[in-house]
Amino acid sequence: MVDFIDSSRIRCKAVADLVMTSEEAARFIAPGDHVGMSGFTGAGYPKSVPAALVTRVTQAAERGDHFAVSVWTGASTAPELDGALAAVDGIDLRMPYQSDPVTRAKINAGLMDYLDLHLSHVAQMVWEGFFGHLDVAVIEVAGVTADGHLIPSSSVGNNKTWIDMADRVILEVNSWQPPELEGMHDVYYGTALPPNRKPIQILRPGDRIGVPYLQCPREKIVAVVETNAPDRNTAFKPVDETSRLIAGNVLEFLSHEVRQGRLPATLLPLQSGVGNIANAVLSELDDGPFRPITAYTEVIQDGMLELLRSGTMSMASATAFSLSEAGHAGLRANIADYRDRIILRPQEISNHPEVIRRLGCLAMNGAIEADIYGNINSTHIMGSGIQNGIGGSGDFARNAYIAMFLTPSTARQGAISCIVPMASHVDHTEHDVHVIITEQGVADLRGLAPRRRAQKIIDHCAHPDYRPALQDYFDRAMASGSARHTPHLLGEALSWHSRYQQMGTMRRD
Ligand code: COA
Repeated sequence: MVDFIDSSRIRCKAVADLVMTSEEAARFIAPGDHVGMSGFTGAGYPKSVPAALVTRVTQAAERGDHFAVSVWTGASTAPELDGALAAVDGIDLRMPYQSDPVTRAKINAGLMDYLDLHLSHVAQMVWEGFFGHLDVAVIEVAGVTADGHLIPSSSVGNNKTWIDMADRVILEVNSWQPPELEGMHDVYYGTALPPNRKPIQILRPGDRIGVPYLQCPREKIVAVVETNAPDRNTAFKPVDETSRLIAGNVLEFLSHEVRQGRLPATLLPLQSGVGNIANAVLSELDDGPFRPITAYTEVIQDGMLELLRSGTMSMASATAFSLSEAGHAGLRANIADYRDRIILRPQEISNHPEVIRRLGCLAMNGAIEADIYGNINSTHIMGSGIQNGIGGSGDFARNAYIAMFLTPSTARQGAISCIVPMASHVDHTEHDVHVIITEQGVADLRGLAPRRRAQKIIDHCAHPDYRPALQDYFDRAMASGSARHTPHLLGEALSWHSRYQQMGTMRRD
């Protein structure tokens, strides 16, 4: 961790006068508080106050007192926030997206409530009051201007809403964040609840409709903590053969759409989900024929920075970065080049259904499993254990021009088929899923009735080891006296997971 603090980041005297230690700042958080924290996919989360809060929780436990808070964020944060607070049972409710292993274990053990919302819905539901009153906002910023405006850091997420709704605001001013971030954000203050909503006037990914700063009444700020600490910087796995094949199939599919005249040669704005496969697709696009392309997406990963750098991509709009250490270094080294070609927005705008539908986004998201009729499970292992959350995948899939879901055909070294008769949990229904892509091939489901979709998914996406079992299931479901529009053998569909998944395990052990 770098520990040099750049105090010139706070150019407003009234705000500078509120600088204190994180221990002092954490005293503004009381047991039972609802706390809105900044942070989205490991970017722009508070780095110091959460640790001080962990100390308070631990001290309370030593006295025999229970100290837990509700933690609301943009999306995932990092081990020093989610993981550390979960480990001491300091969170009683978490929303809306997490990917932390300790948090996941607590949620699955029933020790923490978890609300998994579409990310574009969060602000609205908070304005409507479904989660109660927001007591405190803890927001990382890159600096404070002379007139007191807040320069957002590497994510915007729900920060505008947290600042607007909270009684008290604690700022962390992180001088590790590049000062050149100033001006890259576009914070829209025109959102409202029906019937007062106005059209969101974004007609192209590069359109600006807001202001580059967050606004916070001076009297709400109760504490300011200076930090100099890096964002989470998880390394991406080197592109393996499976990811390379999936990426190749995505490019082949997009080329086919261009040849059919359904997409322009510059494609339509891309939305790319989180993780290694998405990153592999972005890398593959750099070698592909489409340029200049654009992105209207949620996060900017390493692969997208490389596309911008090479000129393959002309503009990217998102709500956050999600970079490896090398990605951070690349951003800093070339930030002058990126400044005018990256826009970070609040997540209710980056994921806004109206804008996604208007722009015609090409959505590419990961899946845990897909069933033979095209329903997608993105969130639950074996139908019961939460993995991460739906994130923005539903915002994009439901409203995309083409909604693609990408997954390897098998999980756990081939012991489990990711193509199943009936998804054990459904996040995206057959009505929202246009194309399923695995390393085996592409199933374009558009225009196909359920039985035809099933055959296509089995033939094109299932792993050859599991194709006979899936075909056998489908044939018997079709032949059964109860076969209807979407043939199923219900009892067998539900037990398929344990029967075939165990067989797969036995075969490979
Ligand atoms: N059955 C059982 N376990 C499965 C499985 C299946 N069909 N498919 C995957 N898994 C397990 C993996 O083995 C792995 O387990 P481990 O963590 O113990 O190793 C875990 O699930 C994650 O799988 P992995 O292959 O590493 O997934 P990923 O990093 O490519 O992520 C999602 C896939 C679906 C979890 C991820 O894309 C996600 O969280 N999506 C929802 C949010 C989203 O789409 N956001 C983007 C919107 S912008």
